[in-house]
Amino acid sequence: MRTIQFFDTSLRDGEQTPGVSFNTHEKVQMARQLEAWGIDTIEAGFPVASPGDFEAVAAIARACQRMTVAGLARCKNKDIDAAYEALKEAKHPQIHVFLATSPVHREAKLKMTQAEVLASIRDHVTYAKQKFDLVQFSPEDATRTETDFLLQAVQTAIDAGATIINIPDTVGYSNPKEYGAIFKYLIENIHSEVPITFSSHCHDDLGMATANALAAIENGANRVEGTVNGIGERAGNTALEEVAVALRIRQDYYQATSQIDLAKTKQTSDLIARLSGIPVPKNKAVIGGNAFAHEAGIHQDGMLKNPATYEIITPQLVGVEKTSLPLGKLSGRHAFSDRLATLGYEFDQDLINALFKKFKVLADQKKVVTDQDLQALVADKLHRASDDYHLASLQVQYVSNGFQAAVVAVTDQTGERQTASAIGAGSVQAIYNALDQTFGQHPTLNSYEIEAITSGEDAQAEVRVSLQDPTTGKQTNGVGVAFDVLQASAKAYVNASSRLKE
Ligand code: KIV
Ligand code: ZN
Repeated sequence: MRTIQFFDTSLRDGEQTPGVSFNTHEKVQMARQLEAWGIDTIEAGFPVASPGDFEAVAAIARACQRMTVAGLARCKNKDIDAAYEALKEAKHPQIHVFLATSPVHREAKLKMTQAEVLASIRDHVTYAKQKFDLVQFSPEDATRTETDFLLQAVQTAIDAGATIINIPDTVGYSNPKEYGAIFKYLIENIHSEVPITFSSHCHDDLGMATANALAAIENGANRVEGTVNGIGERAGNTALEEVAVALRIRQDYYQATSQIDLAKTKQTSDLIARLSGIPVPKNKAVIGGNAFAHEAGIHQDGMLKNPATYEIITPQLVGVEKTSLPLGKLSGRHAFSDRLATLGYEFDQDLINALFKKFKVLADQKKVVTDQDLQALVADKLHRASDDYHLASLQVQYVSNGFQAAVVAVTDQTGERQTASAIGAGSVQAIYNALDQTFGQHPTLNSYEIEAITSGEDAQAEVRVSLQDPTTGKQTNGVGVAFDVLQASAKAYVNASSRLKE
């Protein structure tokens, strides 16, 4: 039985999802959760990209104990230097160097010949190896690269000191048969005196990212790269939870296992969904809301007789369970922080105190505070932690026929308050018109979604909006959670507007 290593890039490739940007608090929280889930290596970010990215990678490097922490670098010395500085305090650092190898990338993007590409790989992997024991090299757009040239690129990286070779299907072009064959060919033809880890990295443009990753494993890959819930650039990346569960359920076939603690899958997925503002589709494999729902009469009958008739994955396997000890307004600080710990959250005392205050307000309004409520509360707090603007107050006047009116107040990081009022055809439009005045911007509202976090009359509303600056094209997502749908709508809009203004 082989053990497949799991490499999570939710914070790097996942953050390339349109509109998604995580603050350092959120990134550290996600890193802790990924470590608890059993991820072997986390790609914490691209340190040279911005001071914020650098800071987040350094914070994750300090926070992680067991996981290897990787930083991304182009074939440029300044990128490698930045990764080295950011990862200085990591217990187990790793660098991930990449350079495109396909003809279209060489000619249109890099304007480099094959020989120049090989020289750059040799020089930069050699440079990286002077600073890191663990060097990973990725030939970007590997699946559209001439096979013999791909082998040369990979061999050059190995000769220069790379011990991890990652084969990206950058544009999600490959299929399982072709992708598996690339691994077989490379593994059979490379020369190395030390063991080489082969890794898959797939995008989901044709809906084959998970199947391709599994094909790579079948053909000798011993590491899989991906993201939680499959978030990522365009159609996203391989969803790691799908690979982990497939390896468990079809162990008979793949003869492979992983260190992933499957029982923590749901809480990991929930955290990433809330912080990214990208909800998990109901019909998503493994973790979607309908994955364990059985609608048809024949299926229900079969399930009652023997669940094995229609259920290959049990809800318990991936941690989809009901809270046994719900919290209420009489619950104390201890029970509250215990519950947070069970859900995988480790916070310092100040943050627990701040969250406890919010919990008390919520518990006054709700009979029972569920795990979902708690997760929403935490995500709401973390999501807003680095925002410069906050909703201070909201007043809406509703008339049954005619225009609605809203008065809003927003505070900035200095505490200065901006107030505005506006009308709109509906209450949400009136609020958004007023908020636009306080921010002095007029973004396009690309999407507005509302969902009840739990069932029942006292459910909290979660609103997700996606805004776009019509001039620059910049997109941001925002999430707002509140009892009242208008309050949740306003919070989501402030969250997205604040990030648009950055
Ligand atoms: O998809 C891709 O090619 C990448 C590389 C940076 C590995 O994300
Ligand atoms: Zn990628």
